[in-house]
Amino acid sequence: MLADRMKRISSSPTLKVGLEAARLRRTGADVVDFGAGEPDFSTPPSAKAEAKAAIDADFTKYTANAGIDELKEAIANRYHSAYGVDYSPGQVIVTAGGKQALYNTAMALFGPGDEVVTHSPGWPSIPEQIRLADAAPVIVRTDAEDGFRVKPQAILSALTARTRGIIINSPGNPTGAVISEGDLALIADEAKARGIWVVLDLCYERLIYESVAHNLPMVLWSRMPELSIVTGSMSKAYAMTGWRCGWVIGPKQVIAACGAIQSHATSNVCSITQRAALGALEGPQGCVDEMLEEYRSRRDRVMDWLQSDSRIQLVRPAGAFYLFPDISELLLDCKIPTSVDFAQKLLTEAHVAVTPGEAFDAPGFLRISYATSIERLREGVDRIHKFIRSFGPAPGTA
Ligand SMILES: Cc1ncc(COP(=O)(O)O)c(C=O)c1O
Repeated sequence: MLADRMKRISSSPTLKVGLEAARLRRTGADVVDFGAGEPDFSTPPSAKAEAKAAIDADFTKYTANAGIDELKEAIANRYHSAYGVDYSPGQVIVTAGGKQALYNTAMALFGPGDEVVTHSPGWPSIPEQIRLADAAPVIVRTDAEDGFRVKPQAILSALTARTRGIIINSPGNPTGAVISEGDLALIADEAKARGIWVVLDLCYERLIYESVAHNLPMVLWSRMPELSIVTGSMSKAYAMTGWRCGWVIGPKQVIAACGAIQSHATSNVCSITQRAALGALEGPQGCVDEMLEEYRSRRDRVMDWLQSDSRIQLVRPAGAFYLFPDISELLLDCKIPTSVDFAQKLLTEAHVAVTPGEAFDAPGFLRISYATSIERLREGVDRIHKFIRSFGPAPGTA
């Protein structure tokens, strides 16, 4: 009854957790939500003011399909000032979030018979979008033992004559791992030699807590501007998930192709959103740093709290706003078969929503978002510990 491609994809598992938590909440339950992939902060005043002004000025009609010139210019300027790369506004298309940016890119570049290499544990929409483009994702695993680092050798050994692209997400969801400039350079040099696209998902680019060199746009722009794409988003850095604004930056031909796809799918991003994004990009940036500092402090505190049970094993994430503990030992002790079962029980019995690792191709792990207030984080971690204790004391502590 449905199209054949529907056999290959399923709906976003990360969104499902939120829906289930919302359902429980409607029944009156006090759910602590660690499932959210979105900031708990307010959208910056500069964005809100521009949006209100846009409505009042009746800036409410179709805009150019690829976005208003001022916004494309502001995005190009931001990448110039942050990274020193020179893209013209004609090399930018404004999309409905980083998700549509990656979707347009996949549809523009990949097709039947193509292989696209990416890494896991990773954001599930990337392989699904590759499948939607009728190409095949080739997944390279990263491991907790070395901080979920994307190793160039692992990526390069996955390349075949059919490889058409490599998609790297840094900082990564759900691991928070960042790829080093040197590692990306090794990948880029080989990809360029073989005529393979490199797509860089920088959705969390403003949320990096360690002093790591992360000028990845420059690595690509200086080496392979004709074969590389950068995608980004207003969602996480400016707490603007609901506004739906992101972008693709790359060669003009690819941007034109993304524009053609978008022109038949969704047309332009909401005119008011585009003004809001402009307001945020051109307004005071202190709010981004304030959010970063708050996330950093939450990350460190929640890590300490969680690790008071030694069966919860954690890598300190360098970026994004997730912890990604390995709970495989805990599952064995509690005799719970999978992390999906654990998450389900935790939600129904302790009213704490977390995302099971299975959503990111990583059974035995959990994703805990710390994009929520410190009070709720404390409450949620207490409930998690209590839930775990209900299966008996940790070995060696009885
Ligand atoms: C790794 C990654 N890339 C891209 C996105 C897209 O976000 P948005 O469409 O809100 O910009 C997300 C959202 O969760 C993400 O985690």
